[in-house]
Amino acid sequence: MTDFKYGGPWTQIKVNVLADYLKFYTRALKDQKFELLYIDGFAGSGERSVGISGGGLFGQADEMTMEGSAKKALNTDPPFEKFIFIENTDHRYAALISLCDEYPNRKIEVIKGDANKEVSRICSETVWRGPGSPGHGRRAVLFLDPFGMDVTWNTLKAVAQTEAIDLWYLFPMEGFYRQAARKLAKVDPKKSAAMDRVLGTNEWRRALYEKPSQSDLFNAGPEAERVADVKAIEEFVKKRLECIFAAVADPLPLPKTGGPQKFSLFFAVSNPNRRAIDLSMRAAEHILKKA
Ligand SMILES: C[S@@+](CC[C@H](N)C(=O)[O-])C[C@H]1O[C@@H](n2cnc3c(N)ncnc32)[C@H](O)[C@@H]1O
Repeated sequence: MTDFKYGGPWTQIKVNVLADYLKFYTRALKDQKFELLYIDGFAGSGERSVGISGGGLFGQADEMTMEGSAKKALNTDPPFEKFIFIENTDHRYAALISLCDEYPNRKIEVIKGDANKEVSRICSETVWRGPGSPGHGRRAVLFLDPFGMDVTWNTLKAVAQTEAIDLWYLFPMEGFYRQAARKLAKVDPKKSAAMDRVLGTNEWRRALYEKPSQSDLFNAGPEAERVADVKAIEEFVKKRLECIFAAVADPLPLPKTGGPQKFSLFFAVSNPNRRAIDLSMRAAEHILKKA
């Protein structure tokens, strides 16, 4: 039993969506002479515990262990050629190392460090295509699954620039909404900077806020109020991602029902090749639809 407890029913939906895509991906590219990498920026420990009420012998709360993204990835068949797991917390990093010991036939690198720094480094140092790369080059699926507003726009730009990575990104809608106070004047410099960092622009001020009496699109002053709801914020995030990625799917809201939306699961393709876009988008959209 792992001591890693977080999330809710939506957590398993997100992991299952990822697992379905990984299965599709390694099958679809199996004979295409690419070296396939799986990169997990916020890898966790590989497993997590969830409570199941009434599951015990006398109806008391019980717990069961669920596979996390790292374990799902390691179990993908056919397998990826290489796995890179990044985790910054000591005990989860240690648990990940133990998990990887159970997979002696997999090539795995476990990095204890910061996801933004390590993902950007991997994106720029990896030879994705041409001389120095094996076969037809390297391709990767990257999963960014932070608790909150941890992923910076610079990291997303580095990912997009590889033109070789398919990205699954759990956008922290609840975290963002908390920063985006109803009145713009209440968005202090720290909150404002956090939103700039995540979206790579301060354009959200004009896109999400309006003056109450008149809509002055070019000057959302401190008296402006947020007119954007969760859906409008989600659309804005999608538009931002479309500025740097070749294609972006409509996100999956999580949870879908039974409470306020906490996250939006985005899928984005960095490869501008039309066939690559069509293949990846068709699969991702199908998986997202049935989730
Ligand atoms: C939501 S959990 C990831 C769960 C995992 N994807 C799974 O399915 O089991 C986020 C993880 O990221 C780690 N983390 C938080 N900030 C990080 C950072 N800046 N760099 C790397 N890991 C980080 C946390 O310790 C935690 O294990």
